[in-house]
Amino acid sequence: MKTVIIYGSTTGTTEAVAEDLATELGATAIAAADADAAALEGCEFLVLGASTWGMGDLQDDMADFISGLESLNISASCGAVFGLGDQFGFGDSFVDGIADMAEALDDQGLKLVGRWPVDGYAFSASRAQDGTSFSGLALDQDNESEKTADRISAWVQRLKEEV
Ligand SMILES: Cc1cc2nc3c(=O)[nH]c(=O)nc-3n(C[C@H](O)[C@H](O)[C@H](O)COP(=O)(O)O)c2cc1C
Repeated sequence: MKTVIIYGSTTGTTEAVAEDLATELGATAIAAADADAAALEGCEFLVLGASTWGMGDLQDDMADFISGLESLNISASCGAVFGLGDQFGFGDSFVDGIADMAEALDDQGLKLVGRWPVDGYAFSASRAQDGTSFSGLALDQDNESEKTADRISAWVQRLKEEV
């Protein structure tokens, strides 16, 4: 299955995670600022990942990318999202950007897979929370980088089962 990861990263943290994820998923990782129709041609499974900035704002490159998503005529039938944030510094808007990316995929008719339990995080509010889950994988390199590799592996396992 041709899998493409599009990432938005301001200081390089999400980019590094996207590269690791690409290795585990057997996917190609492309910066949102460079992603065009050619990069997405034949894509069957689309993964979007980005950090959250401001007070709950989706990272700029990813915000631009999703605003033009419709014109790219995405061929993928399903997708997943992951987001980076800081649950202690920004506990009221933790990984909010996940919600915007998930909504964008939903708007394009993609089936969203890879929801991730909120258990084990210490935030107080997140737009990405839907019941007991986030709409995608939440990662916190600012405070819990030691948990990231295991979280990615478990998420990839989940994606392989759900796709
Ligand atoms: C000014 C500023 C605002 C931030 N706002 C949020 C936020 O609202 N929610 C959140 O979860 N993380 C927030 N963060 C944390 C970043 O999302 C986090 O550091 C992330 O790993 C950066 O990834 P990037 O380098 O790929 O952009 C903020 C960080 C800074 C410096």
